[in-house]
Formats: sequence, C-alpha cells, structure tokens
Amino acid sequence: MRLLAAAVTTLALSFGAQAVMAAPIEIKFSHVVAENTPKGQMALKFRDLVKERLGDDKVVVEVFPNSQLFGDNKVLEAMLLGDVQMAAPALSKFQKYTDQLQVFDLPFLFKDMAAVERFQQGPEGQKLLDSLRKKGLVGLGYLHNGMKQLSASEPMRVPADASGKKFRIMTSDVLQAQFEAVDAVPLKKPFSEVFTLLQTKAIDGQENTWSNIYSKKFFEVQPYITESNHGVLDYLVVTSTEFWMSLDESVQTELKKALDEAIAYGNDIAGKKTEEDKQLIIESKRSEVVTLSDAERQQWVEAMKPVWKQFEDAIGADLIKAAEMSNQ
Ligand code: SIN
Repeated sequence: MRLLAAAVTTLALSFGAQAVMAAPIEIKFSHVVAENTPKGQMALKFRDLVKERLGDDKVVVEVFPNSQLFGDNKVLEAMLLGDVQMAAPALSKFQKYTDQLQVFDLPFLFKDMAAVERFQQGPEGQKLLDSLRKKGLVGLGYLHNGMKQLSASEPMRVPADASGKKFRIMTSDVLQAQFEAVDAVPLKKPFSEVFTLLQTKAIDGQENTWSNIYSKKFFEVQPYITESNHGVLDYLVVTSTEFWMSLDESVQTELKKALDEAIAYGNDIAGKKTEEDKQLIIESKRSEVVTLSDAERQQWVEAMKPVWKQFEDAIGADLIKAAEMSNQ
C-alpha cells in the first residue's frame, strides 16, 4: 500500500514538473513611445524574431507601447519586482541607479550620431552596460533615437530667448542644470504628460528627437522647433539580473542574438526617421523650423558647457574625455 502511494506521488510530481517545464517564459516589454518610432519598431521586431526562432511554446514576448503598462518613472521598479521583464528607457532616466550614464546628457558633447555610436560600441560604452548590475539590472544593448531639438511657443535663437521659460525635461539632474544654465525653468515630467502640458500652455517648451516630436504630435502644439542638435536621446535595453540569470544559457544566447538584430533594425529606422519626420513636420506647416547661424549656436554652447564641470566628479572626468574623443 505504502509502495503504491509512493509510486503515485512520484508520478504526480513528475507530471507536475513537466507541466512547469512546459510553461513558456513570458517577457513583458514595456515602453512609452508610439509603435511607429525606432523603439516601437525595435520591440516588435524583437518579439517577431523570438517567435520565429524559439517558438511560442518556449518564449512569448508581449510588447506594451505608449506607457500602457508602465511609465518610465515606474518601469525599473516594476522590473525589479518581476512585473515586467524588458524595457528600453531613455539613458536620461537611470539617474536613480547610476551617475555614469548621465554622460549622455551633457549638452553639446557628441557632434553627431556617428560619434555616439563610436562611444557606445567602444570599451567605455560597453563597460557602462554593466553599470547597473549592483542595482539588480543588466544593460543588454544601446538603441538609437537621435539628437534632440528644442521646441517652444516662441522662437529660440539665442540663450536669452529661453530665460524664464518652462521646459519639460526627463528625470535627469544634468538636463535640469542644462536649462538652468540659460535661466530657464526645467520641470521633470513623464513623457505621457508632455502633449497636454504643451497644449494647455502649462509649459513653454521641451526637448526631444524629430521622431518623438512627430509621433506624439508635439509639433501641432509648438509653433517653433529650433534645430539645435544639442544633445542625444538614446536608449538602454534592460532586464533584471534575477530574470536574466533564471534563463538557460541557450535561451539567453538566442534572446541576445534576436535583440542585437532588432537593435540594428531599430537603429536603421532611427536614421531614416530623423530625416523623414523632420520633413513631415516642415510640410505640415504647423511648426516653423528655426535654423541657427554658427554664431547663434555658439552662444548656446558657451552658456551650457559649464554643466560638464558641474557633473565631472559624479560622472568621471575620464569617461567624459572618452566620450569627447569619439568625435574625432
Ligand atoms: C522615449 O523616447 O522613450 C521618451 C523620451 C522622453 O521622455 O522625452
């Protein structure tokens, strides 16, 4: 009788184990932008590649765009709690977890996206992927969006134009210092609130890429966009160390491969969208694009560059130097 009970228990346990093993790994990928953006497209590509290569019975990726699941201010906490497995917040949104990624926020540091790419793929940029480990997060790769432009209710030609104006910024003290350097009033607000803040004139302006300004219709409520290219808005694709380490090595390898391909795809779109979305905004005639003369641009550089020194200790002088060298 005892033997029979033991056999039944063993059988039940092994069925149970099989049922557990058979359950697919679920990856919720949360982001805040529209689907027709570099990040939106990258996330969908990743989902499709994982489905094609690993199959729904092994791994299921579900993408939640437009802050549907979490805004960027909550997503990393949710990730550490296991409520979401992947996200790609803007590099400006990691300040709570590391000071080093703030290097990307320094104004007028990178001359173009090629310099950003060189820095990210170089030794210092690759080391930064691990800068969140102590906080329980793993950086899996960078994704481009593009250079930021300055939109406002009035034309921004020289720093004095920004004086006293309210600008929405991402949650970064460097970005706060950047606007304070031109006597503007920076306000840290979630991306999902920007359109309404602009529309109701609760704020005067904001900084963002052409694809975000276009896809979130900021250009419809901002009559002027200065083509300032004063900083970069890129992303870090992250997961939690706990989730990543729970995966078999073979699954990790396949996911990383799919992600690298999805990122390459997203980067290609980022390059194209920068031009296309700028053009669409110009054609809409809803917003005038302000082009700066060299002398005007230089005034912004001189006003904002002291921010580098202000954050040198927190970020690291060597890291700033390495980023600057990527311009050559
Ligand atoms: C994003 O591109 O993910 C959002 C950027 C922002 O918050 O301005």
